[in-house]
Amino acid sequence: MTREELAGKNAEIVASIAEQIKKYAPNSIVIITTNPLDAMVYVLYKKLGFPRNRVIGFSGVLDSQRMAYYASQLIGIAPESIIPVVLGQHGENMYPVPEASFVYGKPLTEFITKEQYDEIVKKTVQAGAEITNLRGFSSNWGPAAGLALMVDSIKKDRKRVFEASVYLDGEYGVRDVFAEVPVVLGKSGVEKIIELNLNEEQRKKFLASIEAIKKNLATVPAQFLS
Ligand SMILES: NC(=O)c1ccc[n+]([C@@H]2O[C@H](COP(=O)([O-])OP(=O)(O)OC[C@H]3O[C@@H](n4cnc5c(N)ncnc54)[C@H](O)[C@@H]3O)[C@@H](O)[C@H]2O)c1
Repeated sequence: MTREELAGKNAEIVASIAEQIKKYAPNSIVIITTNPLDAMVYVLYKKLGFPRNRVIGFSGVLDSQRMAYYASQLIGIAPESIIPVVLGQHGENMYPVPEASFVYGKPLTEFITKEQYDEIVKKTVQAGAEITNLRGFSSNWGPAAGLALMVDSIKKDRKRVFEASVYLDGEYGVRDVFAEVPVVLGKSGVEKIIELNLNEEQRKKFLASIEAIKKNLATVPAQFLS
């Protein structure tokens, strides 16, 4: 299928599932993984009509932990001890930000060379496609493990910070779009959106990623976007 065909077909399925969720679980907090993620979570949000804290797109845990893994391979520190940041789109226009990632207060960039920086960014962006190529179908253990962490934080009100695709309404200077950013997950769902202080160059890259999300959303038939 072309991306446009996929977006249209999956939007139809997501919209029909939204009807069932509204009927049978009107107070639920909903996390979706279906791709194209940032467009499908938008469709789900519009069709559910739930407040934005109860509609969440999964992908950021995967993208950011993949970056932590690739960095860990180069610097010899466990991925669990790296706090990674990937922003924007879940897809080839995602924006990995090693300079906003830390090992116990020390920026990741102080552990790596410029070549390693580029390698980490490239591998992180290509990770999904690489896994799909190697396995012949999409990754599923990684998303399942990441979803379990997010659900645990919501159910037990742990208020852990994860990257997730959430509805931005002015945060990061953008509106009416779902994108990956760090958020606090607790019993109300998304309890806080953490806004990073991006410099001018970082902001440009973030906005380029947002543009890619909007471009993809424009391929979804209009009836699923309101
Ligand atoms: N967000 C992420 O980080 C991430 C990561 C991996 C995969 N994904 C996405 O997750 C989705 C699922 O991937 P997968 O590998 O598990 O695919 P899969 O093909 O193994 O599973 C899809 C499931 O959806 C079911 N299904 C199809 N039409 C349906 C309908 N109308 N109603 C209810 N169920 C229906 C199928 O029976 C099947 O069980 C894909 O869109 C994939 O791209 C997202």
